[in-house]
Amino acid sequence: MSTDLVGRSLLRDTDLTKAEFLSLIDLADELRAERRSGAEKPRLVGRSVALIFEKTSTRTRVSFQLAAGEQGAQVLYLGPGETQLGEKESIADTARFFGRLFDGIEYRGGAQDNVERLGAHAGVPVWNGLTDRWHPTQMLADVLTIRDHTRRPLEEVVLCYLGDGRNNTAHSLLVTGAQLGLDLRVAAPGALFPDQEVRGEAERLALASGARLTITSDVAEAVSGADFLYTDVWLSMGEPAEAWDERIDLLLGFQVNRDLLESTGNSEVKFLHCLPAFHDEETGAMARIAERRGLACLEVTDEVFQSPASIVFDQAENRFHTIKALMVATLGG
Ligand code: CP
Ligand code: NVA
Repeated sequence: MSTDLVGRSLLRDTDLTKAEFLSLIDLADELRAERRSGAEKPRLVGRSVALIFEKTSTRTRVSFQLAAGEQGAQVLYLGPGETQLGEKESIADTARFFGRLFDGIEYRGGAQDNVERLGAHAGVPVWNGLTDRWHPTQMLADVLTIRDHTRRPLEEVVLCYLGDGRNNTAHSLLVTGAQLGLDLRVAAPGALFPDQEVRGEAERLALASGARLTITSDVAEAVSGADFLYTDVWLSMGEPAEAWDERIDLLLGFQVNRDLLESTGNSEVKFLHCLPAFHDEETGAMARIAERRGLACLEVTDEVFQSPASIVFDQAENRFHTIKALMVATLGG
């Protein structure tokens, strides 16, 4: 199967075959080693990349900007509200203009349809840096991190995601796990189960790959024997702050804490989180919740977040190496 990705976009996880996905992970591994040895070769000299962010970001923005720069490309960052996009100009017209000037475009925003339309009209690779539906660049980093921290083949890895089962990260994990053949469990309250269409897509992929998929509200069943526990924020960007209390009530039983790690029965279990995380009161949002609800953390305790089981900063660093690989492969560096 060809893994030539030149000219290709990454709008949703299923844009990549298993072989293509794994080839990007391998390239990220090589680029990481090259960078660490101090012998990085710039492959994107003379190229230009636009970063359009309609939502805020730390890791994704930094990764695209620094990685493109290290590879010799020019980068233009456009933050929320900094273009005519949406309000005065359509996605299609914006895409056609950007496609004239840039070799690649990253887009983070709400509707998946926006990034799909950018991809349809730009004529250059478009990379989804997160929408309400999918977070595909996150998956590249997550799988690289899992591979770094296990001796077993991916097909034998047990990955359990807990929390909001119908957000972008959960949806992407479900289809990615299904495509790669993992034992993938989602533990969520029934009201926050993954979208039916996404579940159907994942089930079809699992038939082909041999993946085992479990979607359940039974936390004990979900975490039993897990190699990796993964969680995300309980309220995603774009959701109303008024929903916090209802969401907290629904999800408190799905918190990743020491008891949960112990109930996996695996003393080597690792903790993953795409970040940012509500693990202490050091943020404005969490300080307000702490005052209102008397809680010191939400989806993960500080004890677990800071523990040796936590590999979240390896995972965050891998955003950079995998995003670099994505740009190099699709821009043909
Ligand atoms: N994980 C992730 O996408 O982080 P940012 O929102 O900081 O980019
Ligand atoms: N589900 C989260 C992911 C952040 C990286 C959000 O959309 O806010």
